[in-house]
Amino acid sequence: MKFFVDTADIAEIRDLAATGLVDGVTTNPSLVAKTGRNFIEVIEEICSVVAGPVSAEVTALDSVAMIEEGRKLAKIAKNIAVKVPLTWDGLRACKALAGEGTMVNVTLCFSANQALLAAKAGASFISPFIGRLDDINLDGMELIHDIRTIYDNYDFPTEILAASIRSANHVKEAALVGADVATVPPGVLRGLANHPLTDKGLELFLADWKKTGQKIL
Ligand code: E4P
Repeated sequence: MKFFVDTADIAEIRDLAATGLVDGVTTNPSLVAKTGRNFIEVIEEICSVVAGPVSAEVTALDSVAMIEEGRKLAKIAKNIAVKVPLTWDGLRACKALAGEGTMVNVTLCFSANQALLAAKAGASFISPFIGRLDDINLDGMELIHDIRTIYDNYDFPTEILAASIRSANHVKEAALVGADVATVPPGVLRGLANHPLTDKGLELFLADWKKTGQKIL
């Protein structure tokens, strides 16, 4: 499973990218707004830090303007994935941009039929929003499972990018049902390495090691 970081905070991205475990980045207009910075500059900076796909979202609503915005964003760097919403205009824009060789991430996916359309439109990534479905008492993970089955039935190359992840459990479940990518907020990503028994075990090992009076270096 690939890990993308779901943030536009460059300090967080630099810090996590240094672990070598970050395969890409996703941003959205809300995450960019949180930084208070210029959109294009932030995306340029992220692309200079992370070699994998960096999602940058269009904000136009009609396909013609989305395509123009997408072309501008795609020029920022080779690893840009233009993010378009799952609307008919977004699907038209996806088809056009994908036809020009641009990676497209179709976002705001909440149903398997929407995901089927995105794959047919040539999307590189489909972003089903797990957390937002769970918020309204629907099952986000069931959606990932359904999309996995449909994509496998027809050998669609579109990657399933589990989005709106809120917890470590979401990451585990998405991996179990076969999502290709999880885009994870920095705090959740850091938390994946934590376990109280790891901390306790390490403390005991080090206490016993100290008693030996030895050093490795
Ligand atoms: C995905 O690309 C989105 O940026 C993100 O995962 C949305 O998550 P949220 O529902 O926590 O805002």
